[in-house]
Amino acid sequence: MTGGTALTGRVRVTGAKNSALKLMAAALLASGRTTIDEVPDILDVSIMSEVLRRLGCGVSYERCGDGGGGGGRVVIDVPDAPSTETDYDLVRRMRASISVLGPLVARCGSARVALPGGDAIGSRGLDMHISGLERLGATIVSEHGFLVATAPRLTGTSIWLDFPSVGATENLMMAAVLASGTTVIDNAAREPEIVDLCTMLTAMGARIDGAGTSTITIEGVESLSPTTYTTVPDRIVAGTWAIGAVMTRGDVVIERAVAAHLTVALDKLTTAGANVEALSDGIRVSMDDRPRCVDVVTLPFPGFPTDLQPMAVALAAVSTGTALITENVYDGRFMFVNELVRLGADVRIDGHHAVVRGRERLSSAPVVATDIRAGAGLVLAGLVSDGVTEVQDIYHVDRGYPDFVEQLRGLGAKVERTERPG
Ligand code: EPU
Repeated sequence: MTGGTALTGRVRVTGAKNSALKLMAAALLASGRTTIDEVPDILDVSIMSEVLRRLGCGVSYERCGDGGGGGGRVVIDVPDAPSTETDYDLVRRMRASISVLGPLVARCGSARVALPGGDAIGSRGLDMHISGLERLGATIVSEHGFLVATAPRLTGTSIWLDFPSVGATENLMMAAVLASGTTVIDNAAREPEIVDLCTMLTAMGARIDGAGTSTITIEGVESLSPTTYTTVPDRIVAGTWAIGAVMTRGDVVIERAVAAHLTVALDKLTTAGANVEALSDGIRVSMDDRPRCVDVVTLPFPGFPTDLQPMAVALAAVSTGTALITENVYDGRFMFVNELVRLGADVRIDGHHAVVRGRERLSSAPVVATDIRAGAGLVLAGLVSDGVTEVQDIYHVDRGYPDFVEQLRGLGAKVERTERPG
């Protein structure tokens, strides 16, 4: 991409990756046809579709030609007796596949799910998923790279999570909806994606109270029915566009973005000097001058999202002053900073803190995307670098941002996708 152009115009955000993948897993809880709309057209959705197919489901995906944004409809036909063994290589490729564990053990009484590994942002444990399912009555052993869970019928219980883990909260909710009796999950995650999953489960017939708070109460039911549901808009994609507008001193209307899902992030942008306006169906973000540095601390929702931390570092790198960015969710999420430094950013890391001294402009260089969000942060940095920046391994970004390059071009960025020779 060639830096120096302000992002201007309108961009539409489709459903959240981190919700859609769990909604697809939740379909396993009811036999019959579940339809989910606004599902992003990304590799992870293809992987989850394949995971479900190997479990015996029929899965089709159709892009919607309407407003754009890279969304579509997924239709999942779930058999009366799904298989309980997942494909090892598929599951290893995507951590979100672990979210079939709860539904399978609740519905079928057993599950064999490959252990997803760590990745370029940190170690990513599963202890809370396992101990929570054990409290619900499952027996779980780890053998030959698989987690094997068995439970003739799960029984409601109270569970206290050590940390408000998104994935553990979701897996335990999906297990508890078919358990006998009442389950209370304390210190539960409160992300909009949790609320989204609860809303879909409720539409399927589940009894859930407290979604979006730290205490979720679930009264188990005998069975659930399939449903038709629309995925919540992707707040991380929306936040990426908002930060991009500020960094490039542009003016962007982010259609379908929900301001209430980005309160802290938008407040930081306002402090940086941006104009932020919540519209009836979106958010408008514009910036006239060079942004001011703002300190950022990542925390579970409603705190500043860790998934926007690389973009926050990139923003600080071209702001006036010095920012302290603190990462509290992952132990390895500053690894991408080495790449940002290649673009001339002045960043020093000390444990889970990054000290960023802003520069007027960055300087283009070839850099490598190490994960979805790091890749998006590097692309934003490239937009404010002198010259032509090449971001390699862009397939990481494709996992979270449908039509990213097309949407950037739609906002005026000089960017193209190139195949590397050889
Ligand atoms: N953790 C444990 N043990 C557990 C579960 C989590 O130690 O049993 C730790 C993790 O290692 C991590 C922290 O707790 O350090 C947070 O993990 P959490 O379970 O909340 O995250 P997740 O469910 O694995 C989802 C998103 C992530 C996002 C986080 C936090 C999906 C598919 N992934 O992961 O998204 O960063 O919540 O909001 O929903 C991304 O989209 O780029 C991404 C990484």
